[in-house]
Amino acid sequence: MSLKCAIELGIPDVLHNHRKPITLSELATFLSIPPSKTPALGSLMRLLVHSGLFASHRHQGGGEEESYFLPPTSEILVKEKKACISPFALMILNWIMVVPGHQLGEWFRAGAAGETPFDMAHGKGLFGETNVRADLNDLFNEAMASDARLVTEVALLRRQWEVLRGVRSVVDVGGGTGTVAKSIAKALPEVRCMVLDLPHVVATMDEDQREGVEFIGGDMFEHIPPADAVLLKVG
Ligand SMILES: C[S@@+](CC[C@H](N)C(=O)[O-])C[C@H]1O[C@@H](n2cnc3c(N)ncnc32)[C@H](O)[C@@H]1O
Repeated sequence: MSLKCAIELGIPDVLHNHRKPITLSELATFLSIPPSKTPALGSLMRLLVHSGLFASHRHQGGGEEESYFLPPTSEILVKEKKACISPFALMILNWIMVVPGHQLGEWFRAGAAGETPFDMAHGKGLFGETNVRADLNDLFNEAMASDARLVTEVALLRRQWEVLRGVRSVVDVGGGTGTVAKSIAKALPEVRCMVLDLPHVVATMDEDQREGVEFIGGDMFEHIPPADAVLLKVG
């Protein structure tokens, strides 16, 4: 929840853009946090430093105010970075995703066979047309896309799409808004790239967002379009 709060306040972006360690009072000013809440901001920062997401230092001699900075590994929380995974963090920390975890004990005792903790908490599933996901559709899709951007960035750097060279077609099953398929289409233009996802997810994709990828709406448990290679990536 501290991470969620920090992302919502834009703290990783402020630390990154400041380019040098920032004191608590400077940070409070940047974020327009009222002075009455500066001590609470200090607690939040201490917790995030303790967990290794942020870093801090104090000049030798001690007296000076502690100042905070972003360790290189946390740059994946900065909005302007291509491989920013903050949307993924915001999705998994959203109350809709967190509530089922509060009821795990009850689920073990009373959950019906085949019912997930998510179904039990919300009375409906994460996927499907009439689902809770409809309430967080954009957040969910963007979360998955942010994870996929990180993965595709690494795949491109390591030239991992080469494994697909020679296949004529690939289908990304449950491929969401197509971040992975688009990356493959760009790296290997000769390969026919398809995404199979639920119809209401495919419906969010305008023609100009498809970038050479075919989007097919359907249920993977009923039909998977034939292709030389089938890709299944879970965020
Ligand atoms: C965890 S997300 C993964 C998205 C993407 N593969 C990625 O890694 O970024 C699961 C995806 O599967 C889709 N999905 C769930 N049930 C499905 C079904 N029965 N048929 C087709 N797609 C489904 C969801 O809409 C969602 O986009």
